[in-house]
Amino acid sequence: MHLYPFLRPLAFALDAERAHGATIRALKLMPTHAPPPLPASLRSRVAGLDFPSPVGLAAGFDKNAEVPEQMLSLGFGFVEVGTLTPRAQPGNPKPRLFRLVEDRAVINRLGFNNEGQPAAFARLQQCAHRHEVIGVNVGANKDSGDRIADYVHGVRAMAPVARYLTINISSPNTPGLRGLQDEGALEELLAAIQEVGVRNPVFLKVAPDLNPGDPERIVRAAIDHKIAALIVSNTTVSRPPLKSRLASEKGGLSGRPLKPLALQALRDFRAASGGEIPLIGVGGIETAEDAWDRIRAGASLVQLYTAMVYEGPGIATRIARGLAERLRGAGFANISEAVGSEA
Ligand SMILES: Cc1cc2nc3c(=O)[nH]c(=O)nc-3n(C[C@H](O)[C@H](O)[C@H](O)COP(=O)(O)O)c2cc1C
Repeated sequence: MHLYPFLRPLAFALDAERAHGATIRALKLMPTHAPPPLPASLRSRVAGLDFPSPVGLAAGFDKNAEVPEQMLSLGFGFVEVGTLTPRAQPGNPKPRLFRLVEDRAVINRLGFNNEGQPAAFARLQQCAHRHEVIGVNVGANKDSGDRIADYVHGVRAMAPVARYLTINISSPNTPGLRGLQDEGALEELLAAIQEVGVRNPVFLKVAPDLNPGDPERIVRAAIDHKIAALIVSNTTVSRPPLKSRLASEKGGLSGRPLKPLALQALRDFRAASGGEIPLIGVGGIETAEDAWDRIRAGASLVQLYTAMVYEGPGIATRIARGLAERLRGAGFANISEAVGSEA
């Protein structure tokens, strides 16, 4: 896949959301094929699932589960679709997606625009025969009168077509949603999810903007309610120094400027959990070095989205191969031996 250097100027000539739509339409035309071969040292088992590579596609790129098989073909070790809400919803008014090119970043305030869980369910049924890991990220409708009920609904409804489920309570673009990370609300939410009793592993995705003590509290609630992994992290509402004139757009910031925050949040969750619950590192990962740092800081898997906008989909395989080299260099036979090894 060395086409992207030629395609990127075309995509960047369009506004960000149109470019994304064109990319999804082009990917839908792509025939799926076996993924590129990767070294066996990258294979691991996390939360009871088998991953051929620890480099996954983060939620938000394929919100409606239109191209998960294509993304696996392009070399992602796993793909998370969504966020999907019970009912279709339009999201926030446009423009709502911005490329901060000088910062290698994106700001989005999409607000869970998606076609709803039933439409995605039908598509995912077509992939049911695949042994690869396609996870489903679920959220609450903006106008929902009972957000916890929306998560319960999502987990129950999507479980038959999901290898894992992610509870996303960390998007900054649905007013009040991140309040579900607060003590009482989180407890109530996780108890309700546990009550559903699905067999699939359930992951919880958290924000990087946390107060002291939050990681310990979240880890405890997650372990108590049998959450299988924590995804650290979503986009940030903070604004580290940025060069782009779009820096003050409202929404969640992702990409390079999120990197130090997301790495610190991961270290905080590792310190709080001592390895008791698997962690998935996300936020600003652009290179094999970044992925390696996350793994040594305690991530069993990593995910990315924004770097793919700038580098193209070949990034998944490049990072995976770079990770295999680093494993060899450090004398580890398997990726799982490197997890948390910086401590
Ligand atoms: C345009 C865009 C849309 C996103 N939508 C979602 C979403 O629907 N659900 C979710 O959990 N995360 C969503 N995210 C967050 C990403 O999954 C990821 O956590 C974050 O972007 C940090 O990773 P990155 O720096 O590699 O992009 C979105 C990110 C972007 C850039």
